[in-house]
Amino acid sequence: MLILGLETSCDETAAALVESGRRVRSSVVASQIEDHRPFGGVVPEIAGRKHLENLVPVVQAALDQAGARPAEIGAVAVTSSPGLMGALLVGTSFGKALALGWGVPLIEVNHLHAHALAILLGRRRPRFPFLALVVSGGHTTLFRVEAPLSLGILGQTRDDAAGEVLDKVAKFLGLGYPGGPVIDALAAGGNPLAVRFPRGLARSPTLDFSFSGLKTAVVNSALGTRRIDGRLNDQQPPPLSESGLRDLVASFQEAVVDTLVGTTLRAAREHRLSTVVVSGGVAANTRLREKMAGEGKAAGVRVLFPDRDLCTDNAAMIAGAAWHLARGKRFAGLDLRPSAKMKPAAC
Ligand code: KG4
Ligand code: ZN
Repeated sequence: MLILGLETSCDETAAALVESGRRVRSSVVASQIEDHRPFGGVVPEIAGRKHLENLVPVVQAALDQAGARPAEIGAVAVTSSPGLMGALLVGTSFGKALALGWGVPLIEVNHLHAHALAILLGRRRPRFPFLALVVSGGHTTLFRVEAPLSLGILGQTRDDAAGEVLDKVAKFLGLGYPGGPVIDALAAGGNPLAVRFPRGLARSPTLDFSFSGLKTAVVNSALGTRRIDGRLNDQQPPPLSESGLRDLVASFQEAVVDTLVGTTLRAAREHRLSTVVVSGGVAANTRLREKMAGEGKAAGVRVLFPDRDLCTDNAAMIAGAAWHLARGKRFAGLDLRPSAKMKPAAC
């Protein structure tokens, strides 16, 4: 079965054609980064409007790349939660119209479950059950994945998501948007031991995360430097030297990575799971990949990352997850309602 997946939960408009939950025939992503960059973050109103403009050409490109005709498509899958409400409404409405027009079933997919299952589209596939860390701009969540349609939350962030703190700190330091990739590159030349930042909830018995205290600590550290420099001005990014900035950013990134790796491997141990999958936009981070792989190996855990383009937002993961729902005949009606918060039941 060939499924058309649509992804519009945040700032990427994506369409993909995936065959039998396995073979990615095409995957097209239209990024809105340039539209949001002047504002230093995603503007929900702009995101919704851009999805509306982008959907027709992106779906057309996905069909063209796959060399497929609409008549070959067996179902249309849409992200229905969680995400920005306006953005989800545009994508789900568009998906409903296509499903109705083509006379095929509609499938609703949970964006986080799709991130956790994206690994099934690659060459190195995990055995079930496995532990999935979904670490993105809006979420930091640990799932126990029993089977493709059986995912349970073991822990999640109590405040900011990991990607969110990377983006917010980068914005504060005047490094641009999105912050994750900039911090990834800058940190490579810095000393991760230069500043000792807190590892939120590292000693807590739960498998939850907390990153907002770290964000405050980084801001205070930067402000402290500004005070020493005698040029405190809340409107300006701190006047750090090039090497001071690299050290600060490397130490901050190390605290984020340390926390993610520590809690994830503890979850694997406590739940006796021998495979860890790391997915979502932050899984593209060089240091996270390196440290999770190294410490996982030392702990006897197999660590898998989807390819980078399957880690960041894409529609192939939506069409891939939808295939499992289609096999279970779990179709949605045209009365489907998207939800900004994660829906409890939908995959
Ligand atoms: O999964 P994603 O594309 O969208 C959401 O569902 O949120 O994740 C976006 C997040 C942003 O916070 C971005 O800064 C972060 O992923 N990100 C990275 C890297 N590439 C993207 N964070 C750290 N290092 C990267 N290389
Ligand atoms: Zn995402």
